[in-house]
Amino acid sequence: MTTSATVKEAMLRDLGSRDLEFIQIIEDIRNSLLSLAGVSQAEGWEAVPMQGSGTFAIESVISSITPPGAKWLVIINGAYGERILKIIERHGIAAEAIRCPENELPDMDAINGALASGTFTQVAAVHCETTSGIMNPIAEIGAAARRCNCIYFVDSMSAFGGVEFDLGACEIDFLVSSANKCIEGVPGFGFALCRREALQSTQGLARTLSLDLFDQWQALEGNGQFRFTPPTHTLLAFAQALDELESEGGIPARARRYRANHQACVAGMRSMGFQEYVAQDLQGHVITSFLYPTADFDFNEFYDRLTGKGFVIYPGKVTKADCFRIGHIGHLFPEDTEALLGAIREVANDMNL
Ligand SMILES: Cc1ncc(COP(=O)(O)O)c(C=O)c1O
Repeated sequence: MTTSATVKEAMLRDLGSRDLEFIQIIEDIRNSLLSLAGVSQAEGWEAVPMQGSGTFAIESVISSITPPGAKWLVIINGAYGERILKIIERHGIAAEAIRCPENELPDMDAINGALASGTFTQVAAVHCETTSGIMNPIAEIGAAARRCNCIYFVDSMSAFGGVEFDLGACEIDFLVSSANKCIEGVPGFGFALCRREALQSTQGLARTLSLDLFDQWQALEGNGQFRFTPPTHTLLAFAQALDELESEGGIPARARRYRANHQACVAGMRSMGFQEYVAQDLQGHVITSFLYPTADFDFNEFYDRLTGKGFVIYPGKVTKADCFRIGHIGHLFPEDTEALLGAIREVANDMNL
C-alpha cells in the first residue's frame, strides 16, 4: 500500500514510548479514530489500538470478548470470513458459519433463521471482503444481530476510513481496522472501535495476555500508555496520516478519490476486454477482481511485466474462479490509475492478450 512522503517522513524521529508528547499523540489518535467514525467517548465509544497486524486486532477482539458458553455465527463469503472462523475455532470457542459464494451477498433469510434459533450470542461479518472486493450488507446483518441481542463484530480492515457508513446505525459493538489501509499509515498496529458498555462487560474474559483488549483499554485509560512496547514510529506516521485524511476532506473526500480510481480502472480494463468477477452493484471501490482473459493466461508473466514497469497488482484470492486483483486504496490518484492502465495496455499487447 502506497503512503505519502510526509507520512514516511513522520517516522524520522525517535520518541520514547513513555514520553509525554508521545502519550498525547496516542490520546489524539484514539480521539481522531472515534471522530472519524462519527462517534465519541462522551457518546459511549472507545478506540483501543493493539500492536501487530490487522489479524492480531481481530484475534484480540474475538479472544477477549467471548464469555464461556458463547457461540458465534460467522457470515462468510471469502478468505477473511474464513479467517475469523479459524481464530474462533483455534480458541476452542463454539461457532457456526453461514457461507455463500464469493461473488454473492450473504442470504439474510438464512442469517435471520439461524439467529431465530436463539443459540448464538455473537455475530461476525466482514465489511469489504477483500478476497473479491464485494461490499457486504453490514447494516442489515447488524439489525438482525441486534434483534436477537447478539454482540456484533465487523472486520472493516480494508474499508474503514475509505468507505462511508454509520457505525452506530449499523448496530456494531466492535469494529476492527488497521493502520495501513484506507487511513494510509504504515503497518504496525490495528485498532478496535468498541461500544463502551459491551467492552466493560468483557473484564476477565481474555484468553491471552498480550491481546487482552480490556486490559489494553484500561492501561490506555489509566496512564495513557500501551502495556507493552508500542510501534512508536508507526504511531507517528499514523498521526500524520490522520491529519492528511482530515485535510483531504475526511472520509467522504477519500471515498470519492477511491471511487474515482475504481471507476477509471474498471472503465479502462473493460475497454481492453477484461471483465470483473463481482457484479457491478455488489462491488465496492476498495479492490476489484478481474477474471483471467483466457484459459491459458499466464498471470505470473503479467505480474512480472507490470512490476517491471513499477506497478504492483495482487494475485487472485477467490477459490472458484481464476482472477487477479487491482487495489484502489492507498496514496493513489486517478492519474496513477491511468498510468497503470497504460502499462497494462502495453503488457497486454506484448503478451498478445
Ligand atoms: C478484510 C480483511 N481482514 C483482515 C485482513 C488481515 O490484515 P493483516 O494482513 O494486516 O493481518 C485483511 C488484509 O488485507 C483484510 O483485507
